[in-house]
Amino acid sequence: MIKIAPSILAADFAQLGQEVKEVEAAGAQLIHVDVMDGHFVPNISFGSLVMDAIRPHTTLPLDVHLMIENPDQYIEQFAKAGATYITVHVEACRHLHRTIQLIRSYGVKPGVVLNPHTPIETIQHVLEDIDMVLFMTVNPGFGGQKFISSVVPKIEALSTIIKERGLSIDIEIDGGITAETIVPCAKAGANIFVAGSAIFGKEDRAAALQEIQAAGEA
Ligand code: DX5
Ligand code: ZN
Repeated sequence: MIKIAPSILAADFAQLGQEVKEVEAAGAQLIHVDVMDGHFVPNISFGSLVMDAIRPHTTLPLDVHLMIENPDQYIEQFAKAGATYITVHVEACRHLHRTIQLIRSYGVKPGVVLNPHTPIETIQHVLEDIDMVLFMTVNPGFGGQKFISSVVPKIEALSTIIKERGLSIDIEIDGGITAETIVPCAKAGANIFVAGSAIFGKEDRAAALQEIQAAGEA
């Protein structure tokens, strides 16, 4: 079962309530929330106040992707703003295990994100502690970038390890996802797909979302 998580980074910020309602009606299963601090990534997006604002407009789980330094400092506020998942970058966490425990302590599902160059070995000792691994298929910081296909073998390798260990962990893919690029990732074992510009950049969001989902399920 393939789940689509539209990223509000590509939505119209002046109409966010309407935007999330539209993709929920179109069949989205999560809302992806891209938080950027201008330090970990070279761009600033928004913080938990924006989540507070959209929370009443959707019943979908909020999938919060923290592209920030010192995530521990902000986890409580994102948990209180209604996060279902909080994912942190392994590259930003000096004490990754502690950060995972902190997320879990608020009743939020913890996930870890890997940049395109980061090997899966960096997370092999926390797999038992997390609910999701998020693979970046672009360098984080901006929407609308080109998919980096060299990440696909990493997805496949992790998927094998998860099966071998009998774990139940979602594999999410983020960056440059379209009806074409979803195909090799789904084949490699991923089950949740973020799409920003490929959904909010289109006139007919429902058709775009359904086309991507169908391609992933084929
Ligand atoms: C990139 C963000 C992505 C981005 C995806 O730093 O983490 O979630 O919004 O946008 P598209 O789908 O346009 O590549
Ligand atoms: Zn993201």
